[in-house]
Amino acid sequence: MRSIAFKKILLTIMVMLLAVSLFTPSAQAGDVMKMEKQELSENEIEGILLMREEEKLARDIYLALGDKWDLKTFFNIAKSEQKHMDEMGSLVTKYDLEDPVKDDTRGVFTSPEMKKLYEELLAEGQKSRLDAFKVGTMIEDLDIADLEKLLKETDNDDIKIVYLNLVKGSRNHLRTFHRQVEKSGGTYRAQYITEDMYNKIVGSAKEQYEISDPDFKYEY
Ligand SMILES: [Fe+2]
Repeated sequence: MRSIAFKKILLTIMVMLLAVSLFTPSAQAGDVMKMEKQELSENEIEGILLMREEEKLARDIYLALGDKWDLKTFFNIAKSEQKHMDEMGSLVTKYDLEDPVKDDTRGVFTSPEMKKLYEELLAEGQKSRLDAFKVGTMIEDLDIADLEKLLKETDNDDIKIVYLNLVKGSRNHLRTFHRQVEKSGGTYRAQYITEDMYNKIVGSAKEQYEISDPDFKYEY
């Protein structure tokens, strides 16, 4: 009898924990949405629209390469890219912009450049597991370069917080993909960020924190 009661209590606790985790939005996304709207420049609008699709590019490529090579690393990182896409989607909604993601289907993009990049990277990543990991490394390299550039062009605190957390995520993904490239016996040379930045990132520990300070600076 006691054991049944104990199991019931345990089950109740588990259900409660699950409910809390399902219905508590991440503090960061919630806070950003609650922050006051600030006027957007043309550059800021372009940046939001670009990153919304660039996060989709990452998600779609990782899902495709995960399927192709049956590699958990890609599926795990794709989940994080989905969150990034959603955060960019929150900014699109908050500022009443026209969402470039009109169709969430894998490989569908509004920007022809993004579509072209998707096809090139997919073909490259399908050659071998090492090439797949190199493609992952390249996407994160590109993401970090674009986000750091956009951070310099924005003065809106809400956008800055989103970008700062996205670029932190990209640094973590870069660390993971870099390790996989090395384990597979390959090398990758930075194409978008400087070699110094690349080495600093892959030579440092995973970042586990959430950024809520718009003036946060990562020392590369
Ligand atoms: Fe990423």
